[in-house]
Amino acid sequence: MTDPIDVEVQKHGEDSIQRELFGTRLGFILAAVGSAVGLGNMWRFPYRVAEGGGAAFVTLYIILTLCLGIPLMLCEFSVGRRTRLSPIGAMRREGGGAWPLVGFLGVLTGLLILSYYSVIAGWVVRYGIEGILHGFAADPGAYFEQVTTGVAPIVYHIAFMVLTITIVSVGVEKGIEKASLILMPVLFTIVIGLAVWAATLVGSGEGYSFYLAPSFEELLNPTTLAEAGGQAFFSLSLGMGAMLTFASYLSRHENLNREATTIAFSDFGVAFTAGLVVFPVIAALGLQSQVSASTVGALFIALPGAFVEMGTMGRVVGIAFFFALTVGAVTSAVSLLEVVTASMIDEFKITRRPAAIGAGTLILLVGLLPATSLDALGVIDSITEWFLAVGALCMTIFVGWRMKDPVAEMVDGASGFFAAVVPTMMLFVKFVMPPIIAFVVFWSGRNAFNTLVTTLTGGG
Ligand code: PHE
Repeated sequence: MTDPIDVEVQKHGEDSIQRELFGTRLGFILAAVGSAVGLGNMWRFPYRVAEGGGAAFVTLYIILTLCLGIPLMLCEFSVGRRTRLSPIGAMRREGGGAWPLVGFLGVLTGLLILSYYSVIAGWVVRYGIEGILHGFAADPGAYFEQVTTGVAPIVYHIAFMVLTITIVSVGVEKGIEKASLILMPVLFTIVIGLAVWAATLVGSGEGYSFYLAPSFEELLNPTTLAEAGGQAFFSLSLGMGAMLTFASYLSRHENLNREATTIAFSDFGVAFTAGLVVFPVIAALGLQSQVSASTVGALFIALPGAFVEMGTMGRVVGIAFFFALTVGAVTSAVSLLEVVTASMIDEFKITRRPAAIGAGTLILLVGLLPATSLDALGVIDSITEWFLAVGALCMTIFVGWRMKDPVAEMVDGASGFFAAVVPTMMLFVKFVMPPIIAFVVFWSGRNAFNTLVTTLTGGG
């Protein structure tokens, strides 16, 4: 199962001698799917859909996942696999000049995302544990307040970071790959089960139509397009080098385009299925107004509210939901920490354990800010969304215009359709994607700025 890897290591020269590699193709795919699938799918996607007008957002989101997401993932994969380095070193080797700054931005983005991602994951863990111990609170609004203030969110954040650090310290094959192999199928099963259950609820129809029947007008709304783009980058873990880093542990023989397609579809599948849980449940219970309030907490209030009303069955389902969310959060957090850790290993030539502990501790400390302030959390979320778009734009330009013969790397290991489309896809990367992503950059930059200003002036 693992022998091609050793051959690989020797073939690729001195600098890859100690590079760890994924043991199996499935392991790589599940780790990358694990990175993609997380809070972004089950918490952020539904609330973005609610905010962005429902089905129109969903439609644009699918289009962007296919047209921007897959090519961009392929770009990141090709840079990572060719250089066998984490973002900073990869950009230095392939690009030179100021390009390493793009890698640096990626590392910073990963650090900042994880700092608040871990806080939200901490809330999720607490909801799950308390759901098991005492059931969901009768007043979910007050409960959310309790979960997100005081010392508790700090404690859960620290616990979650310790778990993440532990997995990353163990390494790529034994830590990240093993965890994903077990956790991802569990998550898929739970989310599908929940969607089937949601379909049996009385009064769910309105939820489905909000979610699935787009109005043509909104499809043409540029703001919705930009929001869907930002969400697509976040959900697919693109624009900060997470996919690049994973691909740096990949063997030559993999069909990168096929893997990118599989990963993007799985990620979309989970987000879409999560919507099939959230919207019918909310409609069945008449909780729409709580979600369209669209703060980060909306789902944490509306869904548990629904679970409470549904009695014992609701409790079981709710525990399953928060467990799945925890699983998704762990595997995504691992990939975020991996980017920072791998960069420290590559840049400072240190070993994995101190790198993971050092990077993780730093993130843990930065996370004390979002752990104690929801406003800070919201600001970091919108700033990093902008950073991801900037990173995505730079990556497209880099692969389209700077990298030497990217097509060769992309088709290496690919065959049939997945190889044949690559040259056309590259034209798209060069000419079509940069202006579209530039628009997302502009919009999300404006959005981040507004969020910052409103928060600082006390209006948030
Ligand atoms: N894609 C993850 C999610 O949807 C979040 C993430 C973003 C992970 C960027 C890695 C890099 O939850």
